[in-house]
Amino acid sequence: PIVKEMLGLSYLEDTLRDRFSLKRVVIVPGDSDQSELTKKELGRVGASELRRFASKDDVIALAGGSTLAEVANYMTPTAHMKGNMFVPARGGLGESVELQANSIASIMAKKTGGEYRLLHVPDHLGEEAYVSLMQDPNILEVVEVIRSARIVVHGIGDAMVMAKRRKVDKQTIEELLEQGALAEAFGYYFDRAGQVVHKMPTVGLRLEDIQKTEVVIAVAGGKSKAEAIAAVMKFGHEDVLVTDEAAATELMRYV
Ligand code: BG6
Repeated sequence: PIVKEMLGLSYLEDTLRDRFSLKRVVIVPGDSDQSELTKKELGRVGASELRRFASKDDVIALAGGSTLAEVANYMTPTAHMKGNMFVPARGGLGESVELQANSIASIMAKKTGGEYRLLHVPDHLGEEAYVSLMQDPNILEVVEVIRSARIVVHGIGDAMVMAKRRKVDKQTIEELLEQGALAEAFGYYFDRAGQVVHKMPTVGLRLEDIQKTEVVIAVAGGKSKAEAIAAVMKFGHEDVLVTDEAAATELMRYV
């Protein structure tokens, strides 16, 4: 707390919390674009925020990404999380295995002593494939669990960085640019005003599920992500933001 006061982080936390109407903002010192240690610290604090909000027998939906992978690393055996069910927020989004939401859900369950269910749905689903997958009783059952999540934890990415990482086709990239996509979170793309301009076709959490989720926790840092973080905060359904000093300082320009 003393370090936070000295760096002015407590002031930033309060200001961002009020401007974006959040319940909590926690800022770690540094810039995760520059430092692996800062990114780990984001993960550690993200894990402790999840622990703080989790209650007995919760369903917790996780997005993927390298930041969420750090959060998973810092989960520890936790008495009140033993009955928790960890699930991926959405199906395959074109990420490498370590960054997939399925992997993150299973690691978190193992570390906390909770349980997990996986969603084995391939990337880039066509309409027909989607309809037939949703008739599969096993998939349907997991999807229902996912949609009942009380807590969602996700990262935030720059739209173009994420589109390229997921090897989205050229035409879609052009569409995203035209639509003014700035940010990406859990497969949805947002413009400057926080409006959803594009979604990746896969099963799992829908926007209407996120809107009624009790606790939405975003973990994202690095100066380069500030504009993207602001866009997702403007979407207006976030409760907790865990970020770093560099992103927070830059975020003040978008409040
Ligand atoms: C994805 C999440 O897997 O990770 C997104 O679904 C997020 O919500 C992205 O945009 C961020 O990734 P990283 O590696 O920057 O934490």
